[in-house]
Amino acid sequence: MSHPDTDAWTALFAAARTPRADGTAPDSIRPLFAADPARFERFSFRADNLLLDISKTAIDDRAMAALLGLAREAGVEAWRDSMAAGDAVNSTENRRALHMALRAPQGAQRATGGAAVAADVHGTLARMHAFTQAVHGGAIRGATGERFTHVLNIGIGGSDLGPVMAVRALVNPASPMTALHLGNVDGHGWRALLAQIDPRRTLVLVASKTFTTQETMANARLVKGWLAETLGEDRAATHMAALSTNLPACAAFGIPSERVFPFGDYVGGRFSMWSSIGLSLALALGWDAFERMLAGARAMDTHFLRTPLEANLPVLLALTELWHVNGLGLSRRAVLPYDERLRRLPAHLQQLEMESLGKRVTVDGRPVPHATGPVVFGEPGTSAQHSFMQLVHQGPEPVPADFILVAQPDHPWAENHRILLAHGLAQSEGLLAGKNADQVRAEMRAAGADDATIERLLPHRIFPGDRPSTTILLPRLEPHSFGQLVALYEHKVAVLGALWGINPFDQWGVELGKQLADPLLAELRATTPEPARHDASTNGLLREILRLRDEA
Ligand code: F6P
Repeated sequence: MSHPDTDAWTALFAAARTPRADGTAPDSIRPLFAADPARFERFSFRADNLLLDISKTAIDDRAMAALLGLAREAGVEAWRDSMAAGDAVNSTENRRALHMALRAPQGAQRATGGAAVAADVHGTLARMHAFTQAVHGGAIRGATGERFTHVLNIGIGGSDLGPVMAVRALVNPASPMTALHLGNVDGHGWRALLAQIDPRRTLVLVASKTFTTQETMANARLVKGWLAETLGEDRAATHMAALSTNLPACAAFGIPSERVFPFGDYVGGRFSMWSSIGLSLALALGWDAFERMLAGARAMDTHFLRTPLEANLPVLLALTELWHVNGLGLSRRAVLPYDERLRRLPAHLQQLEMESLGKRVTVDGRPVPHATGPVVFGEPGTSAQHSFMQLVHQGPEPVPADFILVAQPDHPWAENHRILLAHGLAQSEGLLAGKNADQVRAEMRAAGADDATIERLLPHRIFPGDRPSTTILLPRLEPHSFGQLVALYEHKVAVLGALWGINPFDQWGVELGKQLADPLLAELRATTPEPARHDASTNGLLREILRLRDEA
């Protein structure tokens, strides 16, 4: 893969492709630890209580200097400040990217888009707060006089993944309401939810930035009909609220304005859980938890805005990714939260990162001359160890991994937590250290294996090691640290946009499928394929689906 012809990119490629001064390979990690007992101290960084350890990567002083040079050449600081100030950094949609304003304190207008945005944000927050208190206190009740016990959020993509992730991460036995989420248009999802909710006690939020997303609107109509069956046509909407930028569409759907919680078009879907899109969180977790989550994100914003590049966690996380993707040619990354409560973090990061960074042209429309966003996948540990970690340890290509560890659990089973952490640490230790032929031979001999067996199994039992990982360590998982963590990844994505010269805030790549689905839907409704429209495979599959459906 080529690279831009600039001094900084040339220095980066030199650092990634030529041996180090001591002769070691530029992608080796073990020699860095052997040569520098203080490597952990020098390559781990803090923002408040959150620690980022990038020492288990091949980034050395030469690579770090090249990466920081690249950040300076790309104007990362100016781009960050311009984003925060409210410039239209989302240039292909002529929009601002002001998710930081959603968690800025009242009165903090500098670097958050100005007074009008602050007034919008705090006006909506005040309404969300009052609504949450009224629902919890019973002043707002269902049409039959019962209190709301469940909140059902209907939304998809950024109007679903952030809230789902946050509820799973932060719900606790004292949480005031149960949150459920309907994302997919697949009716099987709705059927599974139906068993858990009673229309008389369920508050329904239709979460859609555009209020036109086909799947969300289909689900919203379905659920409105379900409410109407019990409550009556005229009272169904009294159990609904809308979270959107499209106020006319909310009104057309029948949701009264006092139940519409707006946000500005300066908030991207995948950055929106801090806006009214987070109302299900406030209801399910309590207002205090929601505010603490915002405060955690704000703390990370402050760190991001004020900390020099060389100690700035989002910048360092972005540079580490760039090192792996462009320096070492690694196009995949695993996200491994060692905390079951973070089980939807990988899904959220898939959208946040791949929708933002899966781009092949620069902001000004030229082809990007190098790789951009990697494929992101993940699962909580230790479960991941029993599924895909085989490939990460012994597959032909390294897969950089993010380990997310939480020091203190919120349950009383200390031994379980010790086991969990031991495995999390063991994975990154094992990826780094590997196991060589001598170690395997010695182990097998000690276990009584004969020489023939040892030699036959040797290649299978060797671990190459020198495989990179980063670790993020949180003292506890609670709303504040969770807010910090999510904002860390948001800013990482923005920084990578600047480094790669791409727009991380648009998502044109999702449009084609939406366009093509419309005629297919019409053909499925009419049960008459229009062969001229499609390729032979799509025609064949359509005919087969219609045949199988008709048989049934
Ligand atoms: O189709 C992708 C997308 O536009 C995402 O960017 C967005 O988060 C999701 O759809 C949902 O959009 P909306 O909130 O407008 O329904």
